[in-house]
Amino acid sequence: MTSHQVSRSPFLKPFYTRTPVGGVIPRTQRRHTLPASEFRNLTPQDAISVFEIEREAFVSVSGECPLTLDEVLNFLSQCPELSLGWFEEGQLVAFIIGSGWGKERLEQEAMTQHIPETSAVHIHVLSVHRHARQQGKGSILLWRYLQYLRCVPGLRRALLVCEEFLVPFYQKAGFKEKGPSAITVPNLIFQEMEYHIGGAAYARRNSGC
Ligand SMILES: CC(C)(COP(=O)(O)OP(=O)(O)OC[C@H]1O[C@@H](n2cnc3c(N)ncnc32)[C@H](O)[C@@H]1OP(=O)(O)O)[C@@H](O)C(=O)NCCC(=O)NCCS
Repeated sequence: MTSHQVSRSPFLKPFYTRTPVGGVIPRTQRRHTLPASEFRNLTPQDAISVFEIEREAFVSVSGECPLTLDEVLNFLSQCPELSLGWFEEGQLVAFIIGSGWGKERLEQEAMTQHIPETSAVHIHVLSVHRHARQQGKGSILLWRYLQYLRCVPGLRRALLVCEEFLVPFYQKAGFKEKGPSAITVPNLIFQEMEYHIGGAAYARRNSGC
C-alpha cells in the first residue's frame, strides 16, 4: 500500500496526537473525554495492548499466539489500513489484524508476509478481550471490518484460517469454506475460509468511501 492509500483510510486517525504532549492542558481549552466507543485502524503504538489480548486468548489455550509481538509491530507498521480496533473509553476491547496476500490460497509464507497492492487480505487474527466475549462484539467488529474493506482500493477477497470449531462463526459472517489449509502449526489443523468483498461498485458509490 502506498502512503497515499494509507492516508485515505477512513478509520486511520492518529489517536496519540489527540493527547497534548507534556500533559499541561491550557485553561481555555476544553478537556477531552475519551469516546465511549470508537472504531479505528491500529498503529504500532497499539501493539502492546493488542499483544496482551492475544496472549491471554491463545497462550492459555494452544500455547502459541498467531502473531508474535514483533509480527504485530511489523504488520501495524506496514499495513495499518488492514487492521481495525474497537476501543471503549480509550481501552482496546477487540481487534483484527490483516495483511495483503497475492495468491488464490493461503500458504505458510502468508503468516509473516505483507504483499502490498493485492486483491486479497489475509486476516491473521480476530480477538476479543476476555471480559467482552459472547456479547456480539467479535461478530460486530468482523462485520464492520468487512464493510470497511469495500473502501480499500483494489480489495476483492478476505481469507483466513481457523480451527473447525470456529467455522460456523465465520460462516455466519458470510465466509465460505475452501477446505483444509496448507498452513500448519504443530498439533493444529486449519480450515481455510474465504469472503468475497462483493457488490463493490454499488457499495462504494453508496458507502461514503
Ligand atoms: C472467537 C471470538 C473472536 C468470538 O468473539 P465473541 O465476541 O466472543 O463472539 P460473538 O459474541 O460475536 O459471537 C458468539 C458466537 O461465536 C462463536 N464462538 C465464539 N467462541 C467460540 C468457541 N470458543 N467455540 C465455538 N464457538 C465459538 C459461537 O458461534 C457463538 O455463538 P453462540 O453464542 O450462538 O454460541 C472470541 O471468542 C475470541 O476472541 N476468542 C479467542 C481468540 C480466538 O479464538 N480468535 C479467533 C481465531 S483468530
